[in-house]
Formats: sequence, structure tokens, C-alpha cells
Amino acid sequence: MAEIGTDIEKAVAYLKEGKLVGMPTETVYGLAGNASDEKVVASIFHTKDRPLFDPLILHFSSEKVLLPFVSKFPEKAQILSKHFWPGPLTLILPKTDLVPDITTAGQTAVAVRVPRHGLALELLKKVPFPVAAPSANPFGYISPTSAQHVQNQLGDKISYIVDGGECAIGLESTIVSFKDGEPVVVRLGGIPVEHIEKVIGAVKVRLSQNSNPEAPGQLDSHYSPKTRFSVERKLFHQLLKTKGGKVGLLRFDKPLTGYPDEYQFVLSPSSNLEEAGINLFKYMRMLDDVGFDLIIAEPVPEVGIGRAINDRLRRASHAK
Ligand code: TXA
Ligand code: MG
Repeated sequence: MAEIGTDIEKAVAYLKEGKLVGMPTETVYGLAGNASDEKVVASIFHTKDRPLFDPLILHFSSEKVLLPFVSKFPEKAQILSKHFWPGPLTLILPKTDLVPDITTAGQTAVAVRVPRHGLALELLKKVPFPVAAPSANPFGYISPTSAQHVQNQLGDKISYIVDGGECAIGLESTIVSFKDGEPVVVRLGGIPVEHIEKVIGAVKVRLSQNSNPEAPGQLDSHYSPKTRFSVERKLFHQLLKTKGGKVGLLRFDKPLTGYPDEYQFVLSPSSNLEEAGINLFKYMRMLDDVGFDLIIAEPVPEVGIGRAINDRLRRASHAK
């Protein structure tokens, strides 16, 4: 099993040796490694069981240190970076030769971000290379929002996990692509589209599907628990009966009355979408561990961060 701790020097030493470590961020935990070393990058793909067509995000301690890795930084991208970094925003920008092709899965653009987490920033400042960090989960499974989640799934494959507590946002970063010059949101995430539009005006949202991989890793089936998972707006006891077996519920702000409490998780009793985001992956994991025959999730209001939550629910419910 991996050692869990807050010894940044130790984590840095492992990274410099070409090893992988679990790294906390404000969104989800990442599986971190030296992005400039092709062998290390290959080991990230291997450890996650991730297909090589799915490119990685590079993490930096500041905008300044990432500049040599991108060849263009359009004005609107700069406005976004000034506004939201450090924070849950990833920009896709044309890359320079400093970024190995394997890191971007052969794409000519690279995904970059400056996370907002004290320990991550400390670590990133101390390594002389960009840090590639996909979410620290086996490919297709739910992203980790605590050190223990990383330990449970990848603990036998890595040496060290930096414990940064529970993730403050709990959903992955919002990805805005500037590959073709104009901004396109290709993954909904920790920063609501509304907030982005307030700063740079209207943006296109083009969430990729299997057939149109704009963010190639955003497959329809993703974030999937092992248990059968479905999303349904209206839920009646009668319906639950017809579904059969032991059914677990993931609710937004109220339990279903008359249904056993121990069969349901409520994301935010105060109807707060940020709180729902923080709890989403944790509760999905807890429900998955119970051994239900089916989990039924209720969609949350489709505004702000709620859009990212519903996106994750929809992908979790998509048959693999
Ligand atoms: O919040 C986050 O972004 C977390 C934390 C650890 O930083 N990381 C994360 O990484 O979610 P990952 O690898 O699980 O998801 C990255 C997504 C993938 O869907 C991938 O397809 C897309 O970003 N992506 C990365 N580089 C890209 C590129 N050059 N072009 C298009 N899409 C890219
Ligand atoms: Mg991921």
C-alpha cells in the first residue's frame, strides 16, 4: 500500500526519481508524474489502465512557468487565466516541442492548469518540470476526492499519496479549448459556464461524445460505479418496486419519504449545488460499496455547477 502523508519533500523526491504520487487538488486527486519524461507518462497511462488516445493535463505553479509550453495564448484565454487561476479551469492551447507527443496523445494542443490547493502548489513549485496528473482513478471509474479513495484503488501501484484533505470542489476542472482560436467549453466542471461567460462573453459548449471526441477522454460512459446506475427525474414507490432488487437512491436535497433512510444519500439538505458537488463522487462510491442491485440518481437543477453534476450523472448511467 502507498504511504499517505503531508511530506512534500518526499513527494518531490519520488517525482524527481520518475515515480508517481497521488496529488490533492481543489477538484479531485491527481495521479502525478513528470510530464517531460515519456517513460513516466507511459507509466501514468499504464497505472490507470487508460487508453493512449486520452491526453493528460499539465499542472504548473503559475501562469508564468507554463508559458514556454504553449505556442499561442489568445487574449480571451489570458483573461480567463487571470480571472480563474489558481482554480478549477483547464485551458487547451497550441503546444510547443517541450511537451512530448505521448502526453497530448498526438494532439497539437496541450491542456494546462494552475490548481488552487496549498500542498499542490508547494509541490509544483519544487519540481523543475510540468506535472501531468489525470484523475487518480482507474480509467472510467469515479474520480477520487480524498487520499483514501486513491489508496483504495491505486495504493498498490504507487509509493506515496499527499494527503490534502477532502477536495473543496469535488468535480473536475472546466475545460475550455482554444485549439481553433475561439473558446469552446469541452468539459463542464468546477467553474460554471455562466461565470466564464460573464468574463469573456458567450462561449460554445461542445461536450464530446464517443463519435466526436473533442476532449478525447470524455467518453459517454465515464465516472461509472460498478453497480447499475440510472438517472430518473420522477420517482415513485411503485416504480421502485418494478425495478426490483435492492435499490439505492442518490437524491439532491430531500430523501424520498417512506423509503428506508439507509438506502438513500442526500447530496445537500440545504439545496446548495456547491455542497452537492463536494459530496457527489464520495456518495457515489459509498452507494457503490453497499452492494445494491441498482442505484437511481435524481438530477439536480440544471444551473451553475449543477450542469457539471448532471453531466457526471448522465455519463455514469451510460452503459459501457
Ligand atoms: O480537475 C482536473 O482537471 C483533474 C485534476 C487532477 O487536475 N484532472 C483531470 O484529468 O480530470 P483527466 O485526465 O481525468 O481528464 C482530463 C480530460 C480528458 O477528458 C482529456 O480528454 C482532456 O482532459 N484533455 C486533456 N488534454 C487534452 C488535449 N490536448 N486536447 C483535448 N482534450 C484534452
Ligand atoms: Mg478523469
